Parts: sequence; C-alpha cells; structure tokens
Amino acid sequence: MVPKIMNYRRALYYKIWTFWNKRRFKKLGKGSYIRNPLNINGIGNISIGNNVSIGYKSWIAAVPLTNEKDCSLQIGDGCTVGNFNHIYATKEIILGKNVLTADRVYISDNSHQYSDINIAIMDQPIQQKREVKIGDGSWIGENVCIIGASIGKNCVIGANAVVTKDIQDYSVAVGSPAKIIKRYCADSKTWRITTPDGEFI
Ligand SMILES: CC(C)(COP(=O)(O)OP(=O)(O)OC[C@H]1O[C@@H](n2cnc3c(N)ncnc32)[C@H](O)[C@@H]1OP(=O)(O)O)[C@@H](O)C(=O)NCCC(=O)NCCS
Repeated sequence: MVPKIMNYRRALYYKIWTFWNKRRFKKLGKGSYIRNPLNINGIGNISIGNNVSIGYKSWIAAVPLTNEKDCSLQIGDGCTVGNFNHIYATKEIILGKNVLTADRVYISDNSHQYSDINIAIMDQPIQQKREVKIGDGSWIGENVCIIGASIGKNCVIGANAVVTKDIQDYSVAVGSPAKIIKRYCADSKTWRITTPDGEFI
C-alpha cells in the first residue's frame, strides 16, 4: 500500500510542478519532468522536448555570464539525464534526441578564467568556450565532463572521461583527455579499433 500512495503523491507532485513551471521555461514538452532539481538558472532560456526525464538534484542553467547575445540550453525529445548532472550554458548547449547521460555528468560551454594571480579564481570573469552539441542517441557514462567540445551521433563516452575535443559520429571514446578507441565502420558494418585520432587500425 505504501508504495502506491508514494507513487500517487509523486505523480501529483510532478503534475503540480509542471503546471506551475511550464510557462517559465522557453519550452517544456509533454511528459517531461525534472526530479527535485538542485538549481535551475535562466529558466526562460531552457527548452526541453517531449518525454525527457532529468534525474534527482541536477543543476541546469542557461545564463549569459559571458555577455553573449543569445544563450540557450536545449534538451531534445526522449533524453534521459541522470542524477546529480550539472549542465551550464553561457552560450549554447544542445543535447539531441534520445541522449542518455549517467549520474554526475558535467557539461559546460564555459570555464573560470585564472589569468590574474592576484584575484581569487572565483572572482575572475567567466571565459566562453566553444558551444557543445551532443548528437542523437549518444550515451555519456558516469562522471564524464564535457567542456567546450561536441560529440557526434550514437557515440559512447566511457565512464570518467574528460572530453575537450570533438568526437565524431559513431565513436567510442574513453579516458582523460578522451580519445577515440573504436569507431563504426560502414564498409564492414562492425565496430573497429582505431588510433586515438579515429583512424581504423
Ligand atoms: C566504454 C565502455 C562502454 C566499454 O565499451 P566497450 O566497447 O565494451 O570497450 P571494451 O570493454 O572492449 O574496452 C576497450 C578498451 O578500453 C578500456 N576502457 C573501457 N572503458 C574505459 C573507461 N571508462 N575508461 C578508460 N578506459 C576504458 C578497456 O580497458 C580496454 O582497454 P584495452 O584495450 O587496453 O584492454 C565501458 O567501459 C564504460 O565506461 N561504460 C560506462 C558505464 C556507465 O557509466 N554506466 C552508467 C549507466 S547509464
């Protein structure tokens, strides 16, 4: 009995939450919900597609801290974002459709400047990095950081990777800094081992 009551309560909570917040987002699609967010900043710059779930205590933000004219975070239809994710756009971050992120993933198109040694880094300006795009169908493993780099379609980013350079479509990349270890070969229709630059061995 108790779980049923909990589920009913949770469903009611999501309905009320969605009703209350829907108009505050740029877009919040049907069947999408965010489970007890840690923080949402710049809600009017955030678009969430249909059937998206964002896990417990995640922090999503789209705030033009680097004075960009346009600033947006777009999360495509069918994405599942894990628990404790931290996704912060100052210019543009796009998650395509059906992207899966595991827990504790960090995605950012900006960084703290540290050029002035006389000022605490937290008091120095935010530096704009490149926009981030994660292609449809990709899977981002546990504890991954993606900073100013894009990832293609149906890629696998292994647990604990730090991605600072673009990863092409249909690649498996691991490590810090992330390097490609496998890529789908359309000729042989198999995943083949590659050099870190993605050349088939
Ligand atoms: C990358 C991953 C998917 C494995 O892919 P795979 O194609 O089966 O790769 P393999 O197991 O054949 O490993 C290939 C090589 O990469 C290494 N490797 C695999 N995952 C790695 C990782 N996360 N970091 C560093 N190296 C890794 C392997 O040790 C192996 O090295 P070797 O060739 O020197 O022996 C898996 O290891 C991984 O990281 N999964 C993410 C799990 C996760 O976060 N789950 C959350 C649930 S949503």
